[in-house]
Amino acid sequence: MLDAGGQYTHLEARKVRELGVYAEVRASETHAAEIATARGIIISGGPASVYDPGSPTVDPGIFAGGQPVLGICYGQQIMAHLLGGEVQRGDKGEYGLATLELDDTADPLFAGLAGPQQIWMSHRDVVASVPNGFTVAGRTPTCAVAAIAAPEKKLYGLQFHPEVAHTTRGKEYLANFVFRVCGCEKDWDPRHRVPLLELEIRACVGDRSVFFFVSGGVDSSVAFTLCTRALGAGRVRGVYVDTGLMREGETEFVRRMAGLSVEHAQEQFLGALAGVIDPEQKRHIIGEEFVRVQERIIESRHILDERWILGQGTIYPDTIESGGTAKAALIKTHHNRVAGIQKLMESGRIVEPLKSFYKDEVREIGRELGLPGELLDRHPFPGPGLAIRCLCSEFDAPVRATAEGVIIPVNSVGVQGDSRSYAPVLAIDTADHVRATALINRLTGVNRVMAAIRTRVPLAEMQVRACSLTPERLARLRRADAAVRRLSHESGYDRRVWQFPVVLIPLGAAEAPDSVVLRPVDSVDGMTAQSVPIDPDLLACMCSELLVDPGIVAVFYDLTHKPPATIEWE
Ligand code: XMP
Repeated sequence: MLDAGGQYTHLEARKVRELGVYAEVRASETHAAEIATARGIIISGGPASVYDPGSPTVDPGIFAGGQPVLGICYGQQIMAHLLGGEVQRGDKGEYGLATLELDDTADPLFAGLAGPQQIWMSHRDVVASVPNGFTVAGRTPTCAVAAIAAPEKKLYGLQFHPEVAHTTRGKEYLANFVFRVCGCEKDWDPRHRVPLLELEIRACVGDRSVFFFVSGGVDSSVAFTLCTRALGAGRVRGVYVDTGLMREGETEFVRRMAGLSVEHAQEQFLGALAGVIDPEQKRHIIGEEFVRVQERIIESRHILDERWILGQGTIYPDTIESGGTAKAALIKTHHNRVAGIQKLMESGRIVEPLKSFYKDEVREIGRELGLPGELLDRHPFPGPGLAIRCLCSEFDAPVRATAEGVIIPVNSVGVQGDSRSYAPVLAIDTADHVRATALINRLTGVNRVMAAIRTRVPLAEMQVRACSLTPERLARLRRADAAVRRLSHESGYDRRVWQFPVVLIPLGAAEAPDSVVLRPVDSVDGMTAQSVPIDPDLLACMCSELLVDPGIVAVFYDLTHKPPATIEWE
């Protein structure tokens, strides 16, 4: 998989692996000779135009040797461009659903796929004329060259994205490519890799021991367990840091994992956060405190002597710098900043057994190792924990009624292109995603739209009050989060969502100072996300339980997709 910078590159590679065929992501400019033994090559999509200075390109040698190549989106354009076709700059582009009319041809890529079908487009430029030897096999009303083929040379291009779920028959295109065009066999199953991984761990670690910081999340837990199996429990040590910002039951949950000790640092973290309001400052302080605790542990347990190496739960998307993964690298910086860890890494004393696997594969490996589903199917949880879900305010401020709804002066994050902003929220009275999307696209000055589901007093009588991150508010949020998690689990709803943050906002009345916002989202990798509908019965149950807490006055439901809102509120 040659990466032309597309946000879906990893999704494309993962979809191929899901078919049982091993795929690896390489830089688009990789020399043809280096990948000459690959059974086939896919060139990914990407945001550039082939005419942009410095835009990604590929070694034209890959088209010369009879190796099958499939270009997706930008991949099709760069292939056409390099082989003598013409790419035309588009002004507006085409984004979203379209209907492809695919010809009935004998090409193996299109076998069984002829006819009209729903596809998903996301492109600006188009191929205006195809290179010699190519024919156009499919088109949409607005894109004349949506699928191209040069079967004798085994070269193919698709302007649409076969890897996304909205392209209803997308998986069949990828299957046709890997099995019919490339002649691959279905022989990739991450579960069969466990014995090999154990050998690799033993070879890497030698006669030393391994030290881990374990977060309780899937990746570090699976990596830790693999090392324990490969080396024996006596040679693997893990520490979990209880920051006091964890969910209910988390520390007890992690404690059940053998070989793990818990470092209690609640007072240190909560002390450093006392009185803090600003979200960026919160994150900064938490990062700094992590550094301190990790440094202290590393020094006190003599991890720096030559008998130890560091184990990490790094997974494949974390190892490659591309549009889709730069963020993952960024949010983990504070863990890697510790000087002691840096020293271990610089001297090559590091073992990362999962570094070539995707999250789904890590879960498969975990199942093979016998880890419980309650661990493997956990939703992602951010390092700074409940702190970034407990919103604070510097001022008392009234809500403001407008024609569209009620403006709540609580600032939350939004993403605009590559930048972020903090802005208030609009509350409307129905859980209507279509209306919410129309409003967020039209209004300026708000980052989200949420529905007021149940309130104990009229919204107009509530107000935002000045408050900071206090143990009392964290405890309130922890209880609310636990209740929502339990109901979501019992009803099976948690399996339909990718992540379900529960957020506390300082919007209240009289004795009940806070409100709760439910934020269930579906996503593939957290880079984009959709707000997910909640069954009315379940929603009603959640409201009833949450409003039993005398400190909570209302329950809201965030209807905003990402972009323009982020998943978390801070
Ligand atoms: P946003 O809010 O940016 O979140 O849409 C995308 C994904 O990243 C997670 N997230 C974090 N994870 N440390 C983490 O380990 C962080 O500081 C952090 N901030 C956001 C978030 O939960 C979601 O899954």
